[in-house]
Amino acid sequence: MKFFIDTANLDQIREAQDLGVLDGVTTNPSLMAKEGITGDENVRNHYLEICTICDGGDVSAEVISTDFEGMVREGEALAALHPNIVVKIPMIKDGVKALRYFSDKGIKTNCTLVFSPGQALLAAKAGATYVSPFVGRLDDISADGIQLIQQIRVIYDNYGYETEILAASVRHTMHVIQCAEIGADVITAPLEAITGLLKHPLTDSGLEKFLADHRKSQQMHA
Ligand code: G3P
Repeated sequence: MKFFIDTANLDQIREAQDLGVLDGVTTNPSLMAKEGITGDENVRNHYLEICTICDGGDVSAEVISTDFEGMVREGEALAALHPNIVVKIPMIKDGVKALRYFSDKGIKTNCTLVFSPGQALLAAKAGATYVSPFVGRLDDISADGIQLIQQIRVIYDNYGYETEILAASVRHTMHVIQCAEIGADVITAPLEAITGLLKHPLTDSGLEKFLADHRKSQQMHA
């Protein structure tokens, strides 16, 4: 399973990259705004910095337009920035057309704001590289985000669709584990949900005891 980090924060991207487990980065307009990145040139430079930090990893950059022509214009400009840019496109009618357009041109895409199996099927039909079902936002409204990942897995496997399931809006470690059990191709999560995976109290107490025993035996043989 690939690990993407879902942030536009450069320090957090660096930390995940330093850990050696990072395969890519996803951003969206809300995450860019959270970092105070505004203005076309700043946005472009920020994407370039992310691509440099996450060397070789896919970096999703979202279009703001909601009409086909606008998405094509923006997406082509984003894709021209760096070979690792993936054009992120919302699951709307013109978005589906744009997915097909970019797919035919060999430009990678990530279809975002996916909340149903039907939407995921359409994204695959349109040739999306990644589909982003939002797990946490479904859970937020008492629906079952993990079940959606399961449904999409079955549908894609039935027909051998190559679109990768990128579980998004992943909020915590259990989401990551459940997505891995189902066979999501990718998860994108905040840094804490990734680093949270390494924590276990028995690891900490076990290590403490190993080190204490080592110190004792060193003293005995000193
Ligand atoms: O990748 C999509 C993600 O940024 C949405 O996450 O936590 O805002 O639902 P969240």
